[in-house]
Amino acid sequence: MLRIALIGCGHIGTVHSYALAQLRGAGLIDASVTATFDPDLDRAALVAEHHQALACDQLEAALDEADVAWICTWTAGHVEAVAAAVERDLAVFCEKPLAPTIEECRTIADQLRGRPHQVGLVLRHAPVFACLADAVGSGRYGRPMTMVFRDDQYFPIQGMYGSTWRADVAKAGGGTLIEHSIHDVDLMQWILGPVAGVRARTSEMFGYPGIEDVAVVGLDFESGVTATLTSVWHQVMSRPSTRRVELFCEDALLWTEDDYLGPVHLETSSGVEEITGLPPEWIDRLTAPEVFAKSVAQYAEPSKAFLDALTRDGTAAEGFPSVDNALAAHEVVDAAYRSATAGGAPVPVPGSPAR
Ligand SMILES: NC(=O)c1ccc[n+]([C@@H]2O[C@H](COP(=O)([O-])OP(=O)(O)OC[C@H]3O[C@@H](n4cnc5c(N)ncnc54)[C@H](O)[C@@H]3O)[C@@H](O)[C@H]2O)c1
Repeated sequence: MLRIALIGCGHIGTVHSYALAQLRGAGLIDASVTATFDPDLDRAALVAEHHQALACDQLEAALDEADVAWICTWTAGHVEAVAAAVERDLAVFCEKPLAPTIEECRTIADQLRGRPHQVGLVLRHAPVFACLADAVGSGRYGRPMTMVFRDDQYFPIQGMYGSTWRADVAKAGGGTLIEHSIHDVDLMQWILGPVAGVRARTSEMFGYPGIEDVAVVGLDFESGVTATLTSVWHQVMSRPSTRRVELFCEDALLWTEDDYLGPVHLETSSGVEEITGLPPEWIDRLTAPEVFAKSVAQYAEPSKAFLDALTRDGTAAEGFPSVDNALAAHEVVDAAYRSATAGGAPVPVPGSPAR
């Protein structure tokens, strides 16, 4: 059985803890949380209790009890936890964003590359985005032309997130673009290929220095496709995390307003249809109440995939998405911040030929 150390026991650490307990309870993984750590010891103890695990008051003590480090600290805590886990040769699950600065993101990527790891860009496991990726990859609807991606969320220092660190640029690295839309940039590159350059504008309407609450990014892909991403943190408390994506191909419009199962609405010259994704076939074996079912499914599926790979392949296990997928998204986000600082000037993305 794989022993998991859960590092960081706040909002998402608790979601992962719940999803892992559900998977374990249903006999769907050969893994269990055996240790927890959080500088807030009450949080570590609360999560540990659900697993009969050891709540530790030091990072090192928790990692010493584990085969896998499950890193869910706020963003600025990832780099230290990853380094300590790598020093012990542990497999690593690291939440997104990798780190506040691009230099730290590159350091984490260098440390995890070639080792068993996975990054918490969980939307790559959502059937609805697999459907969009397939629509482009298959060529069924002709060449992709453009995408309009909108991501909005209430400013997440309140409500169910309740995290003050998201207003602190040293801990978060920025606002809505890096913290929330790192998912979107990753998805856009997954579906449309590498981004060559960006043009971006940001604003800080709520006055937290370095924490943009609006980012509008024009993305020029190596393929020649041009797309836009609009990312907003507002004060509409009924909208915790909402996305709308429109993908135009030569012969079809595909759009969705749900970031898990869809449906994807497909319009071609032949008519209109809906494509609804299916959750994993084992999902009925989980016992989460209906109100949590979607969140649990979104996190349980990638967690199970990673743990199954570790059980099956050991040190050769490859998680999905990888740290290089995440780094590629960070390079785009970093270029967008530099473009915004330069008043929206075009900025090439490192690793891509300037266009
Ligand atoms: N993949 C996703 O969909 C998703 C969703 C939400 C959050 N996240 C990411 O997860 C991370 C945590 O977000 P959250 O919403 O849980 O925040 P949170 O504030 O609820 O929890 C963060 C926890 O980390 C703890 N912590 C801080 N430094 C630590 C350290 N060095 N070692 C151990 N614990 C430490 C804090 O005490 C706190 O309990 C962030 O990077 C966030 O971007 C990812």
